[in-house]
Amino acid sequence: MTNPLLSPIALGDITAPNRILLAPLTRGRSNREGLANPLMAQYYAQRAGAGLLISEATAISAEGRGWPNAPGIWNREQAESWKQVTQAVHDAGGRIVLQLWHMGRVSHPQLHGIQPVSASATTAPGEAHTFEGKQPYVEARALETHEIPRLIADYENAARLAKEAGFDGVQLHGANGYLIDQFLRDGTNHRTDDYGGSIENRTRLLKEVTQALIRVWGAGRVSVRLSPNDGIQGVEDSDTYALFDHAVKVLDDLNIGFLEIRDPLPSGTFGSGLGPRRSAHLKTIFKGPVVDNADYTAQSGAAALEKGEADAISYGRPFITNPDLVDRIAHGHPWTEGGDPSAWYGNSAEGYTSFPPYSA
Ligand SMILES: Cc1cc2nc3c(=O)[nH]c(=O)nc-3n(C[C@H](O)[C@H](O)[C@H](O)COP(=O)(O)O)c2cc1C
Repeated sequence: MTNPLLSPIALGDITAPNRILLAPLTRGRSNREGLANPLMAQYYAQRAGAGLLISEATAISAEGRGWPNAPGIWNREQAESWKQVTQAVHDAGGRIVLQLWHMGRVSHPQLHGIQPVSASATTAPGEAHTFEGKQPYVEARALETHEIPRLIADYENAARLAKEAGFDGVQLHGANGYLIDQFLRDGTNHRTDDYGGSIENRTRLLKEVTQALIRVWGAGRVSVRLSPNDGIQGVEDSDTYALFDHAVKVLDDLNIGFLEIRDPLPSGTFGSGLGPRRSAHLKTIFKGPVVDNADYTAQSGAAALEKGEADAISYGRPFITNPDLVDRIAHGHPWTEGGDPSAWYGNSAEGYTSFPPYSA
């Protein structure tokens, strides 16, 4: 039987030749201005064999940026710089969508000179990465209700610039404890306006931002990443099943191209899941393609597709060390394991574009 990971799939309006996707990976190879560069173009082109590349998280505004040397997409110069990346990926036969990021409270004034914003006045646990090393997070300021249209306009502006830059679509980063996730969960959202309180209200920002992206791209080129099975970066909710069942229903109603779930195993090696994987359950709510992520091997990925638990798999760390991951899965070649985690967010080609394709 042929490996189901190798069969094509329509991810909304994007046709992927296989079901092995690059998961979004922050690599910190941009610069202070958030510009893309030739090294990033080379990195993505090396991985163009993926059914679809989901870019590293990219800040939609200076306010939304919380990681030094993460790229941005809020001005024309940044959009221009991304053209070399989209061109290189397309020249290599690939497809790439841009992951749109507002980090909310997981940010620091050192990066942009203002107090970080969030759903409510809360403080992220731990320390922020800044241009001057690690510093404790500060308390975020609750966004005023009248500021929400401006926030949505920032997402829409970024989506438009992503189009100018030549991407094939956009993904809303709704996962991992960043701004959208901070609004979703009652541990970080204590608002009393239309964006807080009931589950319907807490999912309103997710819905309105997704609608804004759809206005620019059409639903078939918009995807969303959620992390229902995860309590990362201090975001918690009293009922993640009720919350995410509703959130996924909202996205199903909007008919987006695909849903990606960060869905780690209870004993995951890069953040642990809160319980068993959610993708099979969420597939009963979301009718479009569900891309599942975290802790998958070639075997467990194929098995998940065979069992109907997911429609495609996104691989993160495996793609760091195996740029030709699709070929390795197709031919049963061994994977290069490990890689040095200190190079994940480094600033050089080493540990980034330095991994060769398989050779016997
Ligand atoms: C170096 C690194 C950077 C990451 N950056 C992002 C990111 O920008 N956006 C995102 O949604 N997830 C990010 N993640 C999470 C990955 O997309 C993925 O969920 C995680 O690596 C687990 O998948 P894996 O087991 O296939 O590696 C990152 C993970 C790593 C290791």
